[in-house]
Amino acid sequence: MSLKIALLPGDGIGPEVTDEASRILKYVAEHSGKSFSFSTHLIGGVAIDSAGTGLPEQTLEACLGANAVLLGAVGNPKFDGRRPQERPEAAILALRQALGGFANLRPAVCHNALTKRTPFQPERVKGANVLIVRELLGGLYYGEPRGFEASGNTAFNTMIYSKHEVERVARVAFDRARERKKKLASIDKANVLETSQLWRGVVNEVARDYRDVELEHVFVDAAAMRLAISPTSFDVMLCENLFGDILSDQAASIAGSLGLLPSATIGGKIDLYEPVHGSAPDIAGKGIANPIGAIASVAMLLRYTAKMEKEATEIEHAIEDALAAGARTKDIAGPGERVLSTREMGQAVEDALHEVRDRKHSYHAV
Ligand code: IPM
Ligand code: MN
Repeated sequence: MSLKIALLPGDGIGPEVTDEASRILKYVAEHSGKSFSFSTHLIGGVAIDSAGTGLPEQTLEACLGANAVLLGAVGNPKFDGRRPQERPEAAILALRQALGGFANLRPAVCHNALTKRTPFQPERVKGANVLIVRELLGGLYYGEPRGFEASGNTAFNTMIYSKHEVERVARVAFDRARERKKKLASIDKANVLETSQLWRGVVNEVARDYRDVELEHVFVDAAAMRLAISPTSFDVMLCENLFGDILSDQAASIAGSLGLLPSATIGGKIDLYEPVHGSAPDIAGKGIANPIGAIASVAMLLRYTAKMEKEATEIEHAIEDALAAGARTKDIAGPGERVLSTREMGQAVEDALHEVRDRKHSYHAV
């Protein structure tokens, strides 16, 4: 049976990076005997321009009929003056809600080859490997009421969480921690917010089913500081929606560039994969964006939706190898290093993937 993948390249650098990511998927399909079928649809600013809405009905239908969705990015500064509901970003929020995935997994890894490209002293960041589990369908992003008062001088949003929303995402975080270093930090602001008090209570209840996982509660402000000075002290970080949005950008400092970070959103009807970086309008169309975040998102797609763990790991090794061999896009290049285009970086990962697979075969042969 063929796996149906809906591609939503979106705005800015989205099309450039999704091109490379789907190229890697096609390579995997050719070499694994699995078949993938692709369809491409509009979302975000480009959809507003050509269809009058950020999430056209046809796009939504196609996503709901797919096995997985791969999204590039949405956002364009030309819509900056608009109210939140009329901006391209609203399309992504509506899509997330329709697909139903509530657990957004955002790994941030320090690649050995890039320790010097991070803002950290290499010995502080070496080995850092954090997984942020971000609650994606609740909190301030969706809470009602929201809006401006008639005067225009007052605006409000609502942070709201129910027990079942916290419980289901907490289980995902504990499950992931179990497969990793068995350490979970639940991030909250329970010294100030009721939602955080509820959050902490529910996480403690869920923890009874995971006695093998070491749980700690960390205030979000302290977590930000700890991430900035000792990133290796975290394994899995469980966050509500907004805290996870903020801390996952911060965690990019471990990797050295936002362009390297992938994400997977699971737990709903259809899984959604997107690099963490945005549309980066300043570099859009120049062919210089880093495709690794999108390519690593495809590895997560193979792992979680296609259940192709071997192929997922091979892609991750290929990324590691390409970086170790010196492949650099502009965002991660050091002084004097040769800079690759988006296309060349995609090719470097594909070549490395070819070698990873060859190496494996020759091991099997001896
Ligand atoms: C992200 C982005 C989105 C978010 C925006 C584009 C709506 O920043 O995926 O982190 O805030 O969730
Ligand atoms: Mn963000």
